[in-house]
Amino acid sequence: MSSIELTKTGVEGLDDILNGGVVKHSTTLISGNPGAGKSILGLQYIYNGVELFDEKGIFLTFEENRDDLRQAAESIGFDNWQRYVEDGRIRVYDKQVLLRENDFGAAIDILLEALDNDDYERLVLDSLTMFQLFFESEREQRTYLLKFTDILRENGLTTLMTNEQGTVFPETDIGLESFLTDGNIFLLQTPTDSGVNRYVWVAKMRKQNIDSDIFPVEITQGGLTVHENASAFSMIGEDGSAFG
Ligand SMILES: Nc1ncnc2c1ncn2[C@@H]1O[C@H](COP(=O)(O)OP(=O)(O)OP(=O)(O)O)[C@@H](O)[C@H]1O
Ligand SMILES: [Mg+2]
Repeated sequence: MSSIELTKTGVEGLDDILNGGVVKHSTTLISGNPGAGKSILGLQYIYNGVELFDEKGIFLTFEENRDDLRQAAESIGFDNWQRYVEDGRIRVYDKQVLLRENDFGAAIDILLEALDNDDYERLVLDSLTMFQLFFESEREQRTYLLKFTDILRENGLTTLMTNEQGTVFPETDIGLESFLTDGNIFLLQTPTDSGVNRYVWVAKMRKQNIDSDIFPVEITQGGLTVHENASAFSMIGEDGSAFG
């Protein structure tokens, strides 16, 4: 038996393949190609926190403003999103707030104020790709990312960061971000004649013995559902060609 504390995502099927959830106070990267469902998973993680586990959450988005985010949440069926934002159980920092100063130090200060006053347990950063644009050199990105993940850990947050990544196995060197995070979950979508097939793959989860198989995913009203039935695997070529 392990004594590692876990945070449930509340996403049907995902906690099972994670052996219970993500490691508490860790940072997990959600990588995947455009449209794969990264942002929806982030919304769902924060929303479920309040709705199912009575845990407050923070959503940082460099991609959208708070009205777009509200619309996205409501259109996927998270009907109480706005209520939770208004009563402070969900805190949103949108691109207008985060990019106001054009200085990440200022954005961190705003965030720290919130962390001082309240007990938030979950955080989403959407997306790391945009976050990195704050910094000029890779060295600076690395330094700030390390500093930032430390701050989140020290404040008791369990974090998901989305990351745009087209291929599961990059030809070139592995991005620095995968060294800095505790876990790496890939979401992928591939076109088919009738629409898209979606998959999830838990590539890495520090301290956790996870199932490294690839599982089919569905996005419907209510968000993502992970299916554990192996039959859908037949949709993936033997050579792994689904991974482009
Ligand atoms: N209500 C819904 N029912 C079914 N599918 C939906 C629904 N709402 C959104 N989708 C699908 O979810 C996907 C969008 O997911 P999301 O915005 O989370 O992707 P993403 O990985 O964040 O993409 P990007 O890299 O462009 O930000 C789209 O493919 C869309 O078709
Ligand atoms: Mg997105």
